[in-house]
Amino acid sequence: MRFTVAFLGALGLLGGVTTAINTIELKGRHFIDSVTKKEFFIKGVDYQPGGAANVEKGGDPLTDADKCARDVFLFQQLGINTIRVYSVDPTQDHNECMTILAAAGIYLVLDVNTPLEHQHLNNEEPWTTYTSMYSEHIFSVMHVFSGYDNTLAFLAGNEVIFDPTSAKASPNYVKAVVRDMKAYITNQIHRRIPVGYSNADDLRFRTALAAYLECGDTGYIDFWGVNSYQWCGKNTFTGSGYDKLVEDYKDYSLPIFFTEYGCNEVRPRIWQEVDALYSEKMTGVFSGGLVYEFTQEPNDYGLVNITKDEDAVILKEFDSLGDAFEKTPKEPTIPSGSSNPTRPVDCPAASKLTGITANFTLPTTQGAEYIKSGVDKTKFVKGKFVTGPKFTTTHKITDSEGKEITEKTVKEVATYTQSDIPDGGIGINIGGGTGTGSDSASGSGSSSGDSTKKNGAGSAKSMTFGWSLGLITIGFAALL
Ligand SMILES: *[C@@H]1O[C@H](CO)[C@@H](O)[C@H](O)[C@H]1NC(C)=O
Ligand SMILES: *[C@@H]1O[C@H](CO)[C@@H](O)[C@H](O)[C@H]1NC(C)=O
Repeated sequence: MRFTVAFLGALGLLGGVTTAINTIELKGRHFIDSVTKKEFFIKGVDYQPGGAANVEKGGDPLTDADKCARDVFLFQQLGINTIRVYSVDPTQDHNECMTILAAAGIYLVLDVNTPLEHQHLNNEEPWTTYTSMYSEHIFSVMHVFSGYDNTLAFLAGNEVIFDPTSAKASPNYVKAVVRDMKAYITNQIHRRIPVGYSNADDLRFRTALAAYLECGDTGYIDFWGVNSYQWCGKNTFTGSGYDKLVEDYKDYSLPIFFTEYGCNEVRPRIWQEVDALYSEKMTGVFSGGLVYEFTQEPNDYGLVNITKDEDAVILKEFDSLGDAFEKTPKEPTIPSGSSNPTRPVDCPAASKLTGITANFTLPTTQGAEYIKSGVDKTKFVKGKFVTGPKFTTTHKITDSEGKEITEKTVKEVATYTQSDIPDGGIGINIGGGTGTGSDSASGSGSSSGDSTKKNGAGSAKSMTFGWSLGLITIGFAALL
């Protein structure tokens, strides 16, 4: 996709079509738009300019409106609807960047961890890092970003389990983090923002970990993220092994999408996998994906080079990815006869989950005080859309042929309004908890699990779940 006159002309026409940034919900194994009820397919990129090194210097990619305007303009040229950000600082202000994204019709999938101390689990000895300070961090990220309708989902972890040691030590800590995040939503967040996990796609752990995190009535994820780099260069659905991937997950009960994809072993990347991803070969099982990654970093996956002066230089693979996205259907269709597995799913015996230690006893939550009372609302301010955000960047943008792009204004294609956000949580048991988790490897999934009722019946069911601190009543009080 190059910046030809014809292309810009086409965008101008699109400018008349307005959509709304409606919140995204879960429905069976898909995401849906909460208003139109249509399936939502993620078409996006991973976005963390400067990577971990920048986070270590206090950087946060969603705080500088001038840079956000630069990159959101480019997101629109690329034709995406979602970005994933790996690390943010919840003490900073993200309002203007989130508003620019919303106006551009773009959602955010947000990891709650950072590489900083007290802000992630150590995957070999997770008990050393699973602390009250860690809980405060992840809850504060959730609190801040729950204010924005275009917050699509939270990721509880990224590739925490990636080798035999972490596969032994970490699974029940990941499940505990999911449980804690859900308890926080039940008690403190007004909307059921989906909570998932992003998996290093390693065949040694793939199916066992997916099954372990999917099951039971405590700490089950809402969606499964797959980081996959298996389609390299010119290949096919079967040659790349994508057929096997779809087959392995064909009966999975939750939405799945690529949280990272885009093999760079064969250059230039030609993005044939994009076509497969939004075709009926995959849409019954996969809800799209996120290309790794937007900015050029030392590991050489970038689509855009950010210079020392914070100007943007478009690389050739940005153009070809844009072309590939453009050829995908606007509304991908799901093959008829796709299976729609029921939930909740009972947990298999731990011995069946080979490759990981599937300990169904979860460590006791370290964040009970925050689940009960919320995080400090003055230190961590709930996000809000602003009026009149910055839509034009002062940074220079150069196309892949070295020509400067002068018309670089973000197009306002989506309507967004600041939702009226009530205090308190959803008041529904979505697999959260505070005490030690269920150690039952069977049958436990048959209890209330996933009630989406906001009425008395729903609450009565949730009460049977055995909340040790009576936290659930706080959520209900807020609803009344
Ligand atoms: C990206 O920018 C850096 C620093 O400005 C430069 O050294 C590098 O050659 C650029 N890479 C590409 C692929 O343009
Ligand atoms: C399972 O996890 C719990 C909580 O972390 C721990 O106390 C227990 O020792 C673990 N059980 C096994 C068999 O590892």
